[in-house]
Formats: sequence, C-alpha cells, structure tokens
Amino acid sequence: MNALREKIVREIRERGPIPFSRYMELCLYDPELGYYSRHVEQFGKTGDFYTSSDVHAVFGRVMARQFEEIWRILGRPEKITVKELGPGRGLFAQDVLDWSEKKFPDFYDALHYVLIERSAPLCQRIAANLKPRLKAGKAEVVAAYERVAGVVIVFANEFFDALPVEILSERGSLRVDVRNGRLVETWVPSSAEELEFLDRYSVHPENGERLEIGFDARSAMTQTAEFEKGFVVAIDYGYTREEQLAGRHRGTLKAIRQHAVSMSPYEAPGEQDLTADVNFTALAAAVEKHGLRAERLVTQSQFLMGIAETNQFADAFEDCRLPQERTKVALQLKHLVTPAGMGESFHVLVASKGVELERVSKLAGFSFGKSTPA
Ligand SMILES: C[S@@+](CC[C@H](N)C(=O)[O-])C[C@H]1O[C@@H](n2cnc3c(N)ncnc32)[C@H](O)[C@@H]1O
Repeated sequence: MNALREKIVREIRERGPIPFSRYMELCLYDPELGYYSRHVEQFGKTGDFYTSSDVHAVFGRVMARQFEEIWRILGRPEKITVKELGPGRGLFAQDVLDWSEKKFPDFYDALHYVLIERSAPLCQRIAANLKPRLKAGKAEVVAAYERVAGVVIVFANEFFDALPVEILSERGSLRVDVRNGRLVETWVPSSAEELEFLDRYSVHPENGERLEIGFDARSAMTQTAEFEKGFVVAIDYGYTREEQLAGRHRGTLKAIRQHAVSMSPYEAPGEQDLTADVNFTALAAAVEKHGLRAERLVTQSQFLMGIAETNQFADAFEDCRLPQERTKVALQLKHLVTPAGMGESFHVLVASKGVELERVSKLAGFSFGKSTPA
C-alpha cells in the first residue's frame, strides 16, 4: 500500500473526515511523502509537467526586460528585491539574473533576488543551480514568506495553482473519509466563510457542479503583497468571476501524471500532481487590501508579445548560431505565446503600489492587444 495513503487513512481515523484542502496539502507537501517533497524530477519533458521556464530561457529573459522597465518606473531605486514565490528548481531566477547581468547592468546592480521555496529537495536543487549567485549574496533562498523592506517585485509563475483548495458542490463542502479502507467523499454544510467567498468572488455551484475555493492562494497573496512600493506580477492558469458567471471554470481540479490528466485525485496520493485554476478576482481583492491597485489581467501571449515586439524576440535568438537552432527556438517561442500552447491559457495579473497609474499603464507588457479588468 502507498505509504502516504496509509498516513492519510490514519489521520482520518484519528481526527474524522478531513477537508479536501488538508488532503491536497498532504498529497503535495507532506514533508516526507508529498509530491513536491519526495523528489525534484516532476518538472520538464521526462516528468509530469513543464512550465514556461522549462520551454526556453526566453521566458526569463523577456521578464527580465519587464522587471528592468518596472525598476525604471519605480524611480531606479538603489535596491530592489524580486521575491519569487514557489520557484521550483530556480530556472526562472537563473535566466532573469543571467540576462539582467548581461543586458541591464544598472538594474542588475540594484537587484536582490529572494526565492521562497517550501520543498526541501527543491531548495537543494536551487542551491546547486544558483551557487555562485547565492555565494555572492545576489540571491537567497528562504522557506517561508517574510516581509521585505523597501521596493519589491513579487513574482509567481504557476505558484497559486499549486496551493490546496476547498471543493464545494450544492451538497456543501467536501470532506475526505475512509470506508472499508478506501478513501471516499462526504459532504458537510458549507461554512459562513465559504459562502461569503462564493458571494464575493465566485458563483454558487448548481446541478452537480463542483467549484474550488483557494483560501491558501488568497492568504499567500495577502502575506506577500505587503510592501511600501512595488509590483506584483502573477502568472497562472485562471479565471475571473465574470468568466464563472458565464459558465466557465467550474470544477477545475486536476490530477496530473506524466503529462496526462489522471482520473482521480485519490489515486496514488503523493505520486501525482494536483492543481486547480486560480481565481484572479479573489487574488486582485487580496492585493487591494494592502493598498495595491490591481491593474489588469492580460494573457501570457499579450504580455510577452508586448514586451518583446520592439526587438522581435531578439532575446530568444541571441545564442543561435545555425539556422536549425533558430527554427527550434521559433517553435519553442510559438509554444509560449500562441493560443494553442501556453499563450492563452495563462493569464498575468499585474498590481502596483506607489506609482502613478499613467506610468503603469504604459508598461511594455500592456502595450499589445486588449485586456480585461481583473
Ligand atoms: C508548479 S510548481 C512551479 C515552479 C516554478 N514556478 C516554475 O514555473 O517552474 C509550484 C512550486 O511552488 C512551491 N510551493 C508551494 N507552496 C509553497 C509555499 N507555501 N511557499 C513556498 N513555495 C511553495 C512548490 O514546492 C513548487 O516548487
């Protein structure tokens, strides 16, 4: 029997049925047996999923360009901290730091990079990947959010979708129980807090539908978006309340293994990834609590095209020597920006504090195509 399943069954026998968020927390982050704690091989082609930084360094390079512009908009402060939430193996940080050093030396001098990663094996991998930067004090790895003084850019790519969620249906709030040694679903009446969340940021489930509530995503955003001056740039699969009202993004929890969606979140706990689309309306409300202004929600495609169109994605092709290398990079770019790839399924939420709206709306990332309010 799967050791994590045994541990979960034990917990349920001792405590009674557990909320789905607790089940998801154990599956992903149990310190010994959770999906992100056991190993680091889940990323990339041979793993279970790949993220934009696995596709090509151009993602980090183009974002470095955007961070540098943000730094200028913020008045070129002497020190700026990029706080990256859930950096995984640190590939994005590496690409941003390398490209900034090469192309934007003034920004690089001001830059301090903090990677906030909860998984111990991933922290070890970051320590190996970023060794010289960590040694030089340019970057640091921490296991939990902490408040940073001064000017900050909070960045997150596919972080919020990896946080535990509650699941609601018209029967109430989901609990995971054990019957005859098997994990089964039961329902309890939804709490006042859950119902209030649905009223404000989501919709009420009907006709056997399921919906997720990301309280953890909301509190992660609330904790990290507390600073005097700066930006939040969050990229993820996700939706707004308007889209839910239009009938989309209801029941988005997925279990993923080797690039395929698996049938059940209860199969092989700890061996498959569990994710749920992000509620951007709730995240925008969370940043506004700290006096940030949620600017806009644009697609990853619009955002990257906006930043890179002036130089025709030269950041991508810089190291290509041969025509076939250019072709390969062009295909990778296509994957990052086109609707069929990651370009349309991912959205970018940008929020700012301490900068005039007019300057923010001129950001390169907003210069392409149209956007929708968050
Ligand atoms: C889907 S991965 C994304 C990794 C990376 N951002 C990328 O794009 O490749 C989610 C990451 O968030 C980390 N994570 C989840 N909860 C966290 C928390 N509370 N604090 C810090 N990191 C966390 C996980 O360990 C994992 O590395």
